[in-house]
Amino acid sequence: MDKQLLIYTANALVAGSKGLLAMDESTGTCNKRFAALGILQTEEYRRDWRELIATTPGLGKYISGAILYDETIHQKKKDGTLIVNAIINDGIIPGIKVDIGAKAMAGFPGEKITEGLDGLRERLNEYYKMGARFAKWRAVIAIGNGIPTRACIEANANALARYASLCQEAGMVPVVEPEVLMDGDHDLKRCFDITEHVLLTVFDQLYRQKVLLEGMLLKPNMVIPGLQCFEQASVDEVAEATIQCLLQSVPAAVGGIAFLSGGQSGKMASAHLNAMHVWHATKIPWPLTFSFGRAIQQPAMSIWRGAESNRHEAQQALYHRVKCDDAARRGEYTAAMEQG
Ligand code: 13P
Repeated sequence: MDKQLLIYTANALVAGSKGLLAMDESTGTCNKRFAALGILQTEEYRRDWRELIATTPGLGKYISGAILYDETIHQKKKDGTLIVNAIINDGIIPGIKVDIGAKAMAGFPGEKITEGLDGLRERLNEYYKMGARFAKWRAVIAIGNGIPTRACIEANANALARYASLCQEAGMVPVVEPEVLMDGDHDLKRCFDITEHVLLTVFDQLYRQKVLLEGMLLKPNMVIPGLQCFEQASVDEVAEATIQCLLQSVPAAVGGIAFLSGGQSGKMASAHLNAMHVWHATKIPWPLTFSFGRAIQQPAMSIWRGAESNRHEAQQALYHRVKCDDAARRGEYTAAMEQG
């Protein structure tokens, strides 16, 4: 394991006030988002969308790393050059989603286990050759009646740790993503308790499997009440609960923490990250940033809608969101930034 390279890459991904851009939706997920906006679900449109993102002028000012999907890392722009090269040329480190999805877990209705370990060593070596220096693996934990079970949490934590150690062997920084979903009517406390349990289990597995904490990033959910919970929490309550939960479960040695947005709006995700920095900066031992997918892409995608004539305006919307997220990481995001 090249510890120096891993630490160098991890540090570069969380440097300054930049963050990560998740543009690694699987074909199925990307198509679902396209369908909701009436965009044709073809490889060409997916290519056009990813090209639009990758060529947003000035993206590298606020984005340190972009997580790609297998289809995208092989795709070329309309001018015949690779999309991944556009990213690298903007000073952005390319990353790659390497899990092959969360599948129904046998014997555990309503729960999922993420697959993709078979052949992972070989795939990582290929992606490294293509320029990827970090990877992502997402585990999904649902909250509901009687779930999550310990079996589901432990199986997913074990897979995350096996993935992480293979990444480090290949010289790639693992982004470890155990996502506790926002769906459901659970309250803030329940999200807190489940998230804490999941993170403690994940770090136990990472320790057992000798993962270098300084050479990895954690990509957690924020601690938020379920979408159907009648008692929603304020921005400051979410920030406070999230920081408290992370302090109780994440070792200080971890290279950095980069949140997923999980279905929050762009503005909400920025506001939550901002509040964490405004109120808790002195307590946080790790660089704390964003690795949003929908919270960055969605406003731009709803402007684009597959039309070349909307390209410029969509790129402006994307740029605006990453600028807001960068400000949030400094605790300088304000509602006024959303006007004009
Ligand atoms: P969201 O920010 O849309 O949750 O996506 C982040 C991600 O990478 C999910 O795996």
